[in-house]
Amino acid sequence: MNIRKLVWIVVAVLAAGFLLIQLVPYGRAHDNPPVVAEPNWDSPQTRELAQRACFDCHSNETTWPWYASVAPVSWMVQHDVDEGRRYLNFSDWNQSRAENGGEGREGNEPEEVGNVVLNGQMPPSQFLLTHPEARLTDAEKAALADGLAATAGQSPAGASADHESDEPSD
Ligand code: HEC
Repeated sequence: MNIRKLVWIVVAVLAAGFLLIQLVPYGRAHDNPPVVAEPNWDSPQTRELAQRACFDCHSNETTWPWYASVAPVSWMVQHDVDEGRRYLNFSDWNQSRAENGGEGREGNEPEEVGNVVLNGQMPPSQFLLTHPEARLTDAEKAALADGLAATAGQSPAGASADHESDEPSD
């Protein structure tokens, strides 16, 4: 078999594979459940910054881009949103804070919510490639970090007040 033929076979197999994975149902539901309860924002600016940089994965108001319908990218986007909402959901604040409050997960202490912004962990770098508007200046990062710490600290009904279990173990 000559090399040309081999290349065409490989291309055909890849193309067929790409079409086949589009049949996988996971990742195309793109649901935005109702907003239950937002946190008690310390200021409108904090919400604006969070909306710009965090809401696509940490709220029920996700803007689903077109490529979120094309596997395998759709799988990654769906996974990010599912996981993001599970750890921190600005649209279901009390629930997500209560569920994660005692697990010793990094990022659940009020000040750590801000730390992930300051240390560049959030928003994830692959997200910034496709969402330039989510890039924050250093001043905006500082403002968001402070604002989130204040917001998380004053969240209502004691939802985040109890960390009876172990300290986060690094
Ligand atoms: C592209 C989706 C996406 C965006 C945008 C995003 N996050 Fe996340 N975030 C995740 C995922 C997925 C996780 C859970 C897995 C992990 O820790 O990486 C997470 C986890 C977290 C955690 C828990 C950290 C930990 O290690 O347990 C915090 C706090 C957080 N994000 C804050 C933010 C803030 C604040 C913003 C906005 C500045 C933001 N995230 C933007 C996807 C995202």
